[in-house]
Amino acid sequence: MLYLSMLTDIKNSIWPMLFKFYSCVKPSFKRAILAFINSGFYVLDQSVILYSKISKRVVSLMTNIKRKILVTAALPYANGPLHLGHMVEYIQADIWVRFQKLFGNSCYFVCGDDAHGTPIMLRAEKLQITPEQLIADSHGSHLADLQGFGVGLDNFHTTHSAENRSLATEIYERLLKRGDISKRTIRQAFDPIKNMFLPDRYVKGECPKCQAKDQYGDNCESCGATYGPLDLKNPLSVISGTTPIEKESEHYFFCLDHYEAFLKAWTEKGHLQSEVSKKLGEWFKTGLEQWDISRDGPYFGFEIPNTENKYFYVWLDAPIGYIASFKNLCHRHPSISFEEYWAENSDTELYHFIGKDIVYFHALFWPAILKGSGYRLPNNIFVHGFLTVNGQKMSKSRGTFINAKLYLDHLNPEYLRYYFASKLGSGVDDIDFHAEDFTQRINADLVGKWINIGSRSAGFITKQFLGKLSSHCAEPALYQTFVDKGKYIQSFYEEREYSRAIREIMGLADIANRYIDDKKPWILAKSPATEMEALQVCSMGLNLFRILSIYLKPILPNLAEKIATFLNTELTWESRNTPLLDHPIQPFTPLLQRIELKEVIAMIENSKEDISSLLPLKTTPLQEDPLRETISIDDFAKVDLRIALIVNAEPVEEAHKLLKLTLDIGGDIRTVFAGIKEAYNPDSLIGKHTVMVANLAPRKMRFGLSEGMVLAAGPGGKDLWILEPHTGAHPGMRVK
Ligand code: 2FM
Ligand code: ZN
Repeated sequence: MLYLSMLTDIKNSIWPMLFKFYSCVKPSFKRAILAFINSGFYVLDQSVILYSKISKRVVSLMTNIKRKILVTAALPYANGPLHLGHMVEYIQADIWVRFQKLFGNSCYFVCGDDAHGTPIMLRAEKLQITPEQLIADSHGSHLADLQGFGVGLDNFHTTHSAENRSLATEIYERLLKRGDISKRTIRQAFDPIKNMFLPDRYVKGECPKCQAKDQYGDNCESCGATYGPLDLKNPLSVISGTTPIEKESEHYFFCLDHYEAFLKAWTEKGHLQSEVSKKLGEWFKTGLEQWDISRDGPYFGFEIPNTENKYFYVWLDAPIGYIASFKNLCHRHPSISFEEYWAENSDTELYHFIGKDIVYFHALFWPAILKGSGYRLPNNIFVHGFLTVNGQKMSKSRGTFINAKLYLDHLNPEYLRYYFASKLGSGVDDIDFHAEDFTQRINADLVGKWINIGSRSAGFITKQFLGKLSSHCAEPALYQTFVDKGKYIQSFYEEREYSRAIREIMGLADIANRYIDDKKPWILAKSPATEMEALQVCSMGLNLFRILSIYLKPILPNLAEKIATFLNTELTWESRNTPLLDHPIQPFTPLLQRIELKEVIAMIENSKEDISSLLPLKTTPLQEDPLRETISIDDFAKVDLRIALIVNAEPVEEAHKLLKLTLDIGGDIRTVFAGIKEAYNPDSLIGKHTVMVANLAPRKMRFGLSEGMVLAAGPGGKDLWILEPHTGAHPGMRVK
């Protein structure tokens, strides 16, 4: 407590002086002051629940300086439709941007298509169209989906643009001049029929370590070994089916190692979430390697200046696409200054929203490239987790791969915006789309709590009071409680703690509903003696509804607009401070329908058909994988198959494919490393029964001893299904 009161004293005595001083100094001085307060000085809100590191953000809140912010979201590849996994990020970023705008800050939000690379070139070839045609089609479909979900981008550009070509070239030349580009010859797999070098994922063969068949050229899904495509046994080109040859070629490398010290300091300076900077710490331990930024033709991308048939690797020009998209915005709106946002000493703020799979590119390569080429650095990189559907990784063959367009054809986009928001925090945890939970959440919160306040209050006012609110605020203290909560809600939005913002807002909705329940305006309205009281209560109800609608506006922009029309007012953050009195409103029209679980299930079911066109053409399983030679019953009897209870399942951090399973086989506990990480969320396995080979000789793996094997079917990766017995089978029972 003493500590707290000291802080409050400091806050009370220093801030007025500091801000007075701050407001009259030159910009360079302002930066120095911000650097000082950014260095770890804390202010505590009186409730102690909220504390924030003093930063530009807090300074601006306390001094009313309008912030100038630029936000980006990761550029989607231009070779396929957007799915709900993409929408997590676009919705997360859009809520943040809308909150900033609502709060009065200037905030631009740019994105675009990631249009280069081998997969795009090959997909166009397969569709017998040019890559330019493919990326134009994708651009149209991506933009329509983003608009459908209310993602309010200021620009959706493309990396295959004049701006990006010129920026990528300029950045490369600046790095070259600084001595940050090196050249060397490397050996790679080459497809002699297609006449092209093959990326790792375009070569398949047998794992050099465990001999598992049909493994990609980068790692083995069966044993977790990592290697290069040239290490595979009996390798085949995925494109032509021919055996690749080894061929040499000269490649260009960005010397990431030159930036090791800079990156170490930058990644520890509060530009990343703590769990992300911890992960980077591990990468630093193994040292930063030079990054191969060139690819040989044929390749769909930009040619590297002064080279022959060499192209920039897609990941070099992809993030430069953020700058290009903003530059394109500036071309179209000359009042926006490009320099103000991208010059090395820019005073504005820059934030990148990304998924956890592309941290390496954004937190290491990207800051180093910006630094080396004289551009400003991001203030922060906001990393989020993946989306699972009904507890499992999204998978095309499971039918849980839901395209954005399919969702829009079935359900209201604002349901999903709300649902994601109710699950999103500032960390990198995965979030789950669960059909029942989704239905329940929308019906209980949005329809049952929030909209209910408006609908139950509006009727009387329209019918009995000519659609005009009372001229008197019946419960000023209650009204003020709702206003005051704004401070917390605002700070939760700012920190991307949307689920906490929603908890606060729904807590207030409960209070408003209780107030109406207690006052019972439907009874008051019946008698002339009390009908004025009914007007007071319903007007109060609508004023509280208005505040809640302001708080929900970043999440539900479309509904908020309809509510603004109904209440005949603008929903701005500041406007909540004053209740609407003696104010005419429009008749209430139903704003939101309850959803039925079967509608959500129908959408998921339809997604199976929807993605079938994207799945590879089917051959029958036996054609693909013929039966093995006949064995005798004695041969079969050698394999001891047992029912096992999965008592624990956890990911093996160092292996892409492996889950560590703890299995109870009725009297013995076994550890098994199973290559099913991509297919299953470990938590969803705990408590299930499966079948294991219990007498397989234990195998020593990098991560420990594997004491058996669980049985699973499917080609691998996300498409694996472990066997599960019918109810009634117990751990240890023999399978015969
Ligand atoms: O992972 C992806 O989908 C990439 N297309 C993201 C690129 S983000 C930025 F670097 F362009
Ligand atoms: Zn292997």
